[in-house]
Amino acid sequence: MMLLKIRRVANRKGVINVSGAKNSALPIICASLISDGDIILENVPNIVDVTTLFSILRKLGYNVAFANNRAIIKRKKRTPYKILGEDVKKMRGSYYFMGALLSKRKKIMIANSGGCNLGNRPINYHLEGFKKMGAEIKEEKDITTIKAKELCPATITLPFPSVGATINLMLAAIKTKGITTINNSAKEPEIVDVANFLNSMGAKVFGAGTSSITINGVEKLTSSHYHIMPDRIEAGTYLILGAMLDGAEINGINGKYLYSLISLLRKSGFHIFASNNQITIDKEKSPNVINITIGPYPAFPTDLGQPLAVLATQIKGTSIIKETIFTNRYSHIKELNKMGAKINVVDNQVIIDGTTKLNNAHLKAYDLRGAASLVLAASLNENYSTIENIHPFLRGYEKPVEKLANFGIEAQLIRNEN
Ligand code: EPZ
Repeated sequence: MMLLKIRRVANRKGVINVSGAKNSALPIICASLISDGDIILENVPNIVDVTTLFSILRKLGYNVAFANNRAIIKRKKRTPYKILGEDVKKMRGSYYFMGALLSKRKKIMIANSGGCNLGNRPINYHLEGFKKMGAEIKEEKDITTIKAKELCPATITLPFPSVGATINLMLAAIKTKGITTINNSAKEPEIVDVANFLNSMGAKVFGAGTSSITINGVEKLTSSHYHIMPDRIEAGTYLILGAMLDGAEINGINGKYLYSLISLLRKSGFHIFASNNQITIDKEKSPNVINITIGPYPAFPTDLGQPLAVLATQIKGTSIIKETIFTNRYSHIKELNKMGAKINVVDNQVIIDGTTKLNNAHLKAYDLRGAASLVLAASLNENYSTIENIHPFLRGYEKPVEKLANFGIEAQLIRNEN
């Protein structure tokens, strides 16, 4: 178990460069195995979820070199179709091997993926889509087997614009003979990034970023050298931290990806400058309460709801964050309340009464963005807090100790044997 010991030691405007996006790196790495050529990926974040995927690829016999945020994945003609090791269960994104291996081998036997516990997280939309494409599915206790004699093009309408289902079905359709359409597809920027990567290998994906994606199947995919987009959720997390401390300068991110956060903060009174490669925020002495409903892109991202709650504790009055995507993304609240926050959940509304001083405390993280919110909260206090089980945070944030230091935060990762 890893522990984070953390406190604020200086008042400083945080200046950071954004890392590559976790949620496009994960499907892009899985999709690399569909290619008939070598893949070079730039701007790959060095985070635990990425190294877990590389470990799975290596166990499948792939030669993967990873240094300085560049990954080189050498092509392999035949990929084993069984992915049953423990690594699969350590994360959610490993389920992108389903679409990738269906494309490559027309079959896969895979252990059920893990990831953050945010309530019920079924994958029925993915599986129904594969079925529509002609696949047969066998679900056993911990293992799912999917196979098809021939994957057929299909028109699939998702009941909800699921990020994972949109990407998995896009991957599965890449080599089908004909045109597949995914209606009510998710529009997140990471979907566009994955589609751009697929197209860089010769795929024919149209409409990514809209609610209808069309895939014209191709026979072969070539080699590619691709640069992964910046992580808007990492950028948003540090922007929120800057809003509570002495401001922030976030480099390497286009403000358009965080439009919903930027407009919310501006409405609250913060002064924000946003260009196509930088976002800056200044400290604001008396911001107004925030009131936001989370939703699929371009609405406010669920992944920033937990960090945003910490900012709300520092704003006078009652702020409300309404979560509409996941049924139980509230693990941070008990911990923040331990520090002195006044937060209640009523139905799916997180109701935060501010201002409250957040005291240092011994905390426990349960999921990735919940962990991020505890890191932000602990960063406000000059006395040490400790965050037990910090591992989920490391699944999604690259070099957090160095980045936090730019904000005047001292953070130490400590291996805890208990
Ligand atoms: C992705 O999860 C991200 N994960 C999440 O990021 C992110 O919070 C989420 O998209 C929403 O933006 C990865 O990219 C690896 P969904 P995903 O399918 O794909 C329901 C983070 O912290 N649903 O869009 O699992 C589902 O239960 C993580 O970085 C079904 O009912 O999200 C949820 O209520 C956490 N059946 C909603 O749809 C399905 O088959 C949206 O889920 C699929 C989804």
